[in-house]
Amino acid sequence: MSAQFPEGFLWGGAIAANQTEGAYREDGKGLTTVDLLPTGEKRFPFMVGGLTSFTPIDGEFYPSHQAIDFYHRYKEDIALFAEMGFKALRLSISWARIFPHGDDAEPNEAGLQFYDDVFDELHKYGIEPVVTLAHFDVPVHLVKEYGSWRNRKLVNFFETYAQTVFSRYKNKVKYWLTFNEINMLLHLPYVGAGLVFQDGEDEEQIKYQAAHHQLVASSLAVKAAHEIIPNVQVGCMLAAGMTYPYSSDPDDVQDALDKDRDSFFFIDVQSRGEYPGYAKRFFRENNISVQMEAGDEEVLKAHTVDFIGFSYYSSRVTSTDPEIQKNTTSGNVFGSIINPYLKTSEWGWTIDPKGFRITANQLYDRYQKPLFVVENGLGAIDQANENGVIEDDYRIEYLREHIKAMREAINDGVELLGYTSWGPIDIVSASTGEMKKRYGYIHVDRDNQGNGSFDRSKKKSFHWYKQVIQSNGENL
Ligand code: BG6
Repeated sequence: MSAQFPEGFLWGGAIAANQTEGAYREDGKGLTTVDLLPTGEKRFPFMVGGLTSFTPIDGEFYPSHQAIDFYHRYKEDIALFAEMGFKALRLSISWARIFPHGDDAEPNEAGLQFYDDVFDELHKYGIEPVVTLAHFDVPVHLVKEYGSWRNRKLVNFFETYAQTVFSRYKNKVKYWLTFNEINMLLHLPYVGAGLVFQDGEDEEQIKYQAAHHQLVASSLAVKAAHEIIPNVQVGCMLAAGMTYPYSSDPDDVQDALDKDRDSFFFIDVQSRGEYPGYAKRFFRENNISVQMEAGDEEVLKAHTVDFIGFSYYSSRVTSTDPEIQKNTTSGNVFGSIINPYLKTSEWGWTIDPKGFRITANQLYDRYQKPLFVVENGLGAIDQANENGVIEDDYRIEYLREHIKAMREAINDGVELLGYTSWGPIDIVSASTGEMKKRYGYIHVDRDNQGNGSFDRSKKKSFHWYKQVIQSNGENL
């Protein structure tokens, strides 16, 4: 008899402020790093820390500025989520709505009020908010004045921000995540940590120093949450997806282990409370010297996370053979060697439901803490049929297979708190800035150039997901 999804399993969806809200300067909100990310080919050099203009350039299109206008339409959107039966909505707070510059003496009341209203609206329908403190957006002032997370001062600014929102929402939010996909910092340092590099700088050194600051800040946030909010659950958040060795050559196997450890490094610190030996070796061998302050190690050890949040889109493949290395495909930022056994999405992301089960098992074996799947989904181009309906069977197929794999993981003994699929309503793509890369059960009339009415409409998958939730995952 196979295991069922547990009673109270948190089915729902996940969004992020910068990809959804728009209203990028409304009600006192400060400019954030993502507000300076254009779409198209110009986007990538910014994302890796190569450039920043510190101010939007006239004539450039910035998708976050209006996004899907959730700021003004959240009631309509939440009503649609409620119609699907959502038990949880993962969303992020924009730091710059609360502290427009990041280092302000007082928070911005209008920003605090906005999230109060959103949380109240969710509770009206019995939807549990799952809230990320930092989802790829840093107040630009902190980048300009302090060099963002390379500077130790960010730890205190973030702690103040965390304490402020915990105190304000202590009766409304019991699930929190600190940094979205914290391991992304190594791959997209501007996106993950607002880092911008000057020519000739030692980027590895700066990235790991910034990582240390985020890790300490994350622990201090866990500490504050535990002190302020009764029965709170605070999680970390990993961009997950196991790395397979291309062959059984031990060099490939070692390489796969090393690649996974680039990511596990963060979660090892957040969940086990100390820097792992392999990271210390990596620092020694690469002349990286992470500056710690007195007390940092104690803070990391004392305030570990309660659960492991993760996103899963794809597994990855690695090889040490230069010939095989030539066959690559894209992925959730981490490019990968093409897996000959698997298909890819229209954006080249490998589709691997079994890898989802394997990844969940790997994480549970490693940390022995409850897991929360806080992102999963298929980005695809949607076209309406002659009746104007989007019949997104490909999306249903992707999600169905992943939910089955998740059930297998539960059957394996993995403890899972919930599943919030990515972008239940179409939102701006983080990697490309496009609207045409859609994940939603709900279509939004908006295109890559910023045209469209913002009207919402239901896709076929809307009705499908509704009955998945209604049957607690039985009716797939
Ligand atoms: C994750 C991010 O990396 O993947 C999300 O946490 C992002 O912000 C999601 O949107 C999907 O990526 P993309 O590039 O298809 O939007």
